[in-house]
Amino acid sequence: MKGVIFTEFLDMVEQAFSADMVDDLIEATSPASQGAYTAVGTYSHEEIVAMVVELSRRSATPVPDLLEAFGSHLFARFTVLYPGLMPAATTSLDFLASIEGVIHTEVLKLYPDAQLPRLTALRVDDSHLTLEYRSPRGMADLAVGLIKGCAHHFGEDLAITSTTADDGAVLFDIRRV
Ligand code: HEM
Repeated sequence: MKGVIFTEFLDMVEQAFSADMVDDLIEATSPASQGAYTAVGTYSHEEIVAMVVELSRRSATPVPDLLEAFGSHLFARFTVLYPGLMPAATTSLDFLASIEGVIHTEVLKLYPDAQLPRLTALRVDDSHLTLEYRSPRGMADLAVGLIKGCAHHFGEDLAITSTTADDGAVLFDIRRV
C-alpha cells in the first residue's frame, strides 16, 4: 500500500487525537517499517490495519467507524494532493462512475506499484448507481468513507446500502437523496 495512505492516516490521528497517540500506535504495533513512512514508499497494508485496530482499542471506537472517518478525510486530502487527477465531474455519481476508468487509472500511472481495488460502476439512472468493490485487502469501510467524502465534496446527500457476496465482493447501492 502506498505511503500516502499511511502519512495521511497518521496526520488524521494527530489532528483528531494527539501526537502521543501516533507514537503509541507505532510503539504498540511495532510495524516492520518502524513507522517511518514516506508518501511514495510502499508498505504492507497489514501495518495500517494493525494501527487502526489498536486505535479502535484505545479510543473505544469501532474499526468500521474509524475507517469510514478516515475515508472521508482522505477524499478531501486527495482533492488537495492530486488536483490534476480530479475529473471534471459535476456530481458525486458522475465522479463515482469515473473512479475505475479515470482516477485509479491515473493513480497507476503515478504509482505503478499501487494496489488498487476493482471498482465496477453501473449507472441505473440519473440519481442511482451501483458500485462493486473487490479487493484482497477488504477495505470496504474505507470505500464507504471515500464515497461519503465524495458526496460532501459535491454538497450532495447519498443513501448507501451494501451487500457482501460469498466471494467477498461488496456491492454498494448508492442513491442521491
Ligand atoms: C470515492 C472515490 C474513491 C473510492 C471509493 C476509492 C476506493 C479506494 C480504496 C477502498 C482503496 C484502498 C485499497 C483497497 O481497498 O484495495 C483505494 C486506494 C487508493 N486510492 Fe482510491 N478511491 C476513490 C477515489 C480516489 C481518488 C480521488 C484518488 C486520487 C486522486 C484515489 C487514489 C488512491 C490511492 C493513491 C490509493 C492507494 C493505493 C495503494 O496504497 O497502493 N482514490 N481507493
